[in-house]
Amino acid sequence: MTDKMPIAVLGCGGWGKNIVRTVNGLGCLKSVVDPTEQGRQTAASLAPEAEVFENPEPVFADPAVKGVMIATPAETHYTLARAALEAGKDVFVEKPLTIDVEEAHQLVDQAAKTGRVLMVGHLLEYHPAVLKLHEMIQAGELGNIRYLISNRLNLGKIRTEENALWSFAPHDIAVILRLVGALPFEVVATGGSYLTANIADVTVTQLLFDNGVRSHIFVSWLHPFKEQKLVVIGSKKMASFDDVAKELVLYDQRVDWHEGQPIPVRGEGQLVDFPGAEPLKEECLHFIERMADRRPPRTDGLNGLRVLQILHAAQRSLVTNGQPVPFSLDWRSGDGAVGEVKPFRPPVSAAREEVVGAHAQG
Ligand SMILES: NC(=O)c1ccc[n+]([C@@H]2O[C@H](COP(=O)([O-])OP(=O)(O)OC[C@H]3O[C@@H](n4cnc5c(N)ncnc54)[C@H](O)[C@@H]3O)[C@@H](O)[C@H]2O)c1
Repeated sequence: MTDKMPIAVLGCGGWGKNIVRTVNGLGCLKSVVDPTEQGRQTAASLAPEAEVFENPEPVFADPAVKGVMIATPAETHYTLARAALEAGKDVFVEKPLTIDVEEAHQLVDQAAKTGRVLMVGHLLEYHPAVLKLHEMIQAGELGNIRYLISNRLNLGKIRTEENALWSFAPHDIAVILRLVGALPFEVVATGGSYLTANIADVTVTQLLFDNGVRSHIFVSWLHPFKEQKLVVIGSKKMASFDDVAKELVLYDQRVDWHEGQPIPVRGEGQLVDFPGAEPLKEECLHFIERMADRRPPRTDGLNGLRVLQILHAAQRSLVTNGQPVPFSLDWRSGDGAVGEVKPFRPPVSAAREEVVGAHAQG
């Protein structure tokens, strides 16, 4: 099926080159676009048979190209995705779907009206361990979900235009929404900027759901070691997924009550098997399959929009040093409640900077 779905990849930088390699390996790469000489050279060496262009117009004009995968900087996503949809292509966009919530709404509407596939790159939703964990939760193995913790930490790629929340947390938000199966009613975020003014290097975001379910997401590129760990606390069992050690563990542990006293019931952690499939390959295959069967992708445009709305709510809380931000389905950013919110270099008033110094803004 895959060789009937010619794809163009826009952006062959740090992440795009992985998409180029993967789609080429799946036999679907037709062309690559990158405005830089370096990007085009990378594309040519990874996929010598693909056409390589400096700008996307030839790709949009090529009727043989059925799908476009966008792995360019976030601020270019909307313009490129809109143009690709207008040219009649199915579209995959790396996370975050767009920067602006209204623009994400427009893409979702445009794809729906024109019957095009719109998929967003929430990679972890294609990770076999996350799928297995979701399956165990759905089957009731953990009981009622109570708390989720997601840590994404490293002395990693430090960005100066985009804070750690926007760079890392889309993955964690997407997974938590999937596992909880609901949207939060409130978002709280705090963080610290140490390297670039107003760009948070470290953030902690809490999502509060109905029935007392809570989660926190701790992301940082200013951390002494790499940790990518998701922990789920259920009423019957607990589970952890370590994406560095590649281990999914189910703990038969809970707290029982005896004569009014909470008694921890300790049990061994059991390693849970999951398929060894590569998440990026699974994600690219999913896009190709949805192009073929026209069914909605697991991470469709609406999914990308919800994650974006939560990012905006978290950003708003971050710039007010952790004020809770109520969240509802019609949540829009920039509604004037605390001024316009921009994810990149968010506005922090001079008065606030005096009070909080460099330590509490996004
Ligand atoms: N899913 C993941 O795990 C993951 C990991 C890293 C990055 N990403 C996402 O991938 C995207 C790219 O990130 P990156 O780290 O590769 O950035 P990058 O800066 O390393 O690369 C971006 C590339 O896009 C090219 N580009 C810029 N404008 C373009 C245009 N109009 N048309 C075609 N190419 C253009 C640039 O020349 C560059 O080569 C971002 O949305 C980022 O959030 C996802």
